[in-house]
Amino acid sequence: MKFKNILLVEEAPLATLTINRPDKLNALNKATIAELHQAFTALDANPEIRVILLTGKGGKAFVAGADISEFAHFSVKEGTALAAGGQEKLFDLVENLGTPVIAAVNGYALGGGLELAMACHFRVASHNARLGLPEVSLGVIPGYGGTQRLPQLVGKGRAFEMIMTGGMIEAEKGLEYGLVNDVVALEELMPHAKKVALKIANNSPVAVRYAIKAVNAGFKYDKDGFKTEINAFGECFGTEDFKEGTTAFLEKRKAKFPGA
Ligand code: COA
Repeated sequence: MKFKNILLVEEAPLATLTINRPDKLNALNKATIAELHQAFTALDANPEIRVILLTGKGGKAFVAGADISEFAHFSVKEGTALAAGGQEKLFDLVENLGTPVIAAVNGYALGGGLELAMACHFRVASHNARLGLPEVSLGVIPGYGGTQRLPQLVGKGRAFEMIMTGGMIEAEKGLEYGLVNDVVALEELMPHAKKVALKIANNSPVAVRYAIKAVNAGFKYDKDGFKTEINAFGECFGTEDFKEGTTAFLEKRKAKFPGA
């Protein structure tokens, strides 16, 4: 498999996927999502790979969000398709993958980055990790499952505070919230994640696959929150607030929201 935006290292029974756009803080563009889809699908079909680790290149970011420059000019229709396509291709794929996926969060995990980490089966973080869903500061809402998975992991009140303030929490707070399972020094992050992964790899892959299915089944609700999220995310693309929020980010200035 040849990739441009990600690195894949296979050391059976483990495989490590590293998002490799450090000069853009590993922001998730369309090409990266497509490559991750391809890599996860192929690794899941390889019986020698028992656990997949997901991290970001460099010591600064896991993933600083969806690539704002790619969607700043999108229409409502394109915005809706962006969320729906991304959820299907990557976020739902990872959550429901039969091979366990551990996110090793090595810096900023913001917006789509935190959403990607939350789609993984669990997360470990380094001390410098910063976690947040800043979308409302751009005039949009989380569109890759964040409004659903954050409350599942941290509870509704904490999720509302994080989503409404758009602020970042430190790794230690993430630990207190149960958003990450462990916090270690940056240089210890991958060794630690691999140690945990190897414990999983000793167990029955068939049983682990069934366990993932059973745990996830408990989080399927009658009302489809993910669908509501996709539609609401799309609606944001028709607002002046969204135009102002994304333009301000790209122009490196503070947004002044008209509120319409
Ligand atoms: N999409 C596109 N580009 C991004 C990005 C994103 N989500 N996050 C960072 N980048 C780019 C920056 O534009 C910059 O590119 P440039 O060097 O070509 O100008 C580069 O990555 C480095 O980021 P910079 O902002 O200069 O780093 P910083 O250390 O000053 O700030 C952050 C780090 C994470 C606080 C800041 O980059 C940020 O707020 N990013 C956006 C987070 C966000 O809103 N994510 C949700 C998207 S839905």
